[in-house]
Amino acid sequence: MEKENKNYVAHCLILPFPGQGHMNPMIQFSKRLIHKGVKVTLVTIISLWRTIKNKNLSSNIDVESISDGYDDGGYESAESLEIYMDTFWRVGSKDLSELLHKLSSSKYPPNCVIFDAFMPWALDVAKSFGLVGVAFFTQSCSVNSIYFHTHEKLIELPLTQSEYLLPGLPKLAQGDLPSFLYKYGSYPGYFDIVVNQFSNIGKADWILANTFYELEKEVVDWMVKIWPLRTIGPSIPSIFLDKRLKDDKEYGVSISDPNTEICIKWLNEKPKGSVVYVSFGSMAGLSEEQTQELALGLKDSESYFLWVVRESEQVKLPNGYVESSKKGLIVTWCPQLLVLTHEALGCFVTHCGWNSTLEALSIGVPLIAMPLWTDQVTNAKLIADVWKMGVRAIADEKEIVRSETIKNCIKEIIETEKGNEIKKNALKWKNLAKDSVDEGGRSDKNIEEFVAALAQC
Ligand code: UDX
Repeated sequence: MEKENKNYVAHCLILPFPGQGHMNPMIQFSKRLIHKGVKVTLVTIISLWRTIKNKNLSSNIDVESISDGYDDGGYESAESLEIYMDTFWRVGSKDLSELLHKLSSSKYPPNCVIFDAFMPWALDVAKSFGLVGVAFFTQSCSVNSIYFHTHEKLIELPLTQSEYLLPGLPKLAQGDLPSFLYKYGSYPGYFDIVVNQFSNIGKADWILANTFYELEKEVVDWMVKIWPLRTIGPSIPSIFLDKRLKDDKEYGVSISDPNTEICIKWLNEKPKGSVVYVSFGSMAGLSEEQTQELALGLKDSESYFLWVVRESEQVKLPNGYVESSKKGLIVTWCPQLLVLTHEALGCFVTHCGWNSTLEALSIGVPLIAMPLWTDQVTNAKLIADVWKMGVRAIADEKEIVRSETIKNCIKEIIETEKGNEIKKNALKWKNLAKDSVDEGGRSDKNIEEFVAALAQC
């Protein structure tokens, strides 16, 4: 067992921001580090630690906890996001310092802290212990470049230009920028988080980005000129990509019950390429009007569909919809990667969260992009116009995607020549994603370079 190995090349503490879309990529990256001989300790907040401590993340990942100041409920129980982040900063810094102090006299003292860029204070703590400090980007380099330009005040807010041309990015209209910019003031707490990622980034020894070079080549080329940045993704389980990691039976940590048996049994009974998978990730909620339009669009498309509607969202469905959906299965959460790889799958109606985007791209699933807010809007632009692996479901002036649009998008992907082109592109990305993490691929080499440097510390 690796836990007994006395020859670790380094010991990294990994600190994801406490959310599904942040835990997943950092846990998968941890497995890649372990594969290269690094000892990994995952550090999470106490409330999440209670949920995951009995789950087998990987036999080789140790788990430690720190407080965010809300041990009985995490972010959900805070008065506001601003207060939560402020408390987490204060309490988390103190607890992380204590943890580092404790571990410094352990058998394998850590020499590196890899922190989610959403928590820049962790860099200051790492530096105060003389450790290597590494920021981890859980969102795309394209989006982070936009946030960096915002931080540097190179983008004026409220927005003044109709179009933006930033280094390495396609021309972006106001509505292609992350929602916090074109709806400036809409979510000040989130805006602060994404912009503050850059408050001390100049002090980071490395920046690791969950993307792969071919996907964001131009913007990555620009970033490596100003930062010690390396692409290490796509950070999804090895079993869905290069299949090189032996200890990869577990997919990560699912905060909710994934209903695996129900979903897979249902998919097994459906024809190849026939199912529309619909999910909006772990955070976003649709309005009641949007939920009803989507429900109608799915029904009218006459396709089979598997739709993830979280418990709290189910009241927005039309009356009797669940019982009367002969072609649909509605679950509160599903094993998304198993669903995406199932041969019954035809396409994915997605909110374009960065993990969902990378997962679909790595598995070669065509997308129907229905972004809601934050980085999703920019991801949707890239999916449809740059990577050409999906179509955009366009909303009307009330910001609602109508049922007719949803039905047409599904038909476009499943039945038309454009749909076939998109499927071909999706397969192209799938191969490039696999190549990048496979032995000798760009992301694999970058991880090796990083580990080799750590071994010298
Ligand atoms: C959030 C933001 O919304 C997103 O825009 C940002 O890029 C990352 O942080 P989230 O909304 O949860 O993330 O979406 P996403 O990034 O797609 O992550 C969701 C994760 O949950 C994926 O890894 C997906 O596989 C998993 N998931 C989702 C499941 O395992 N089961 C489900 O039923 C739904």
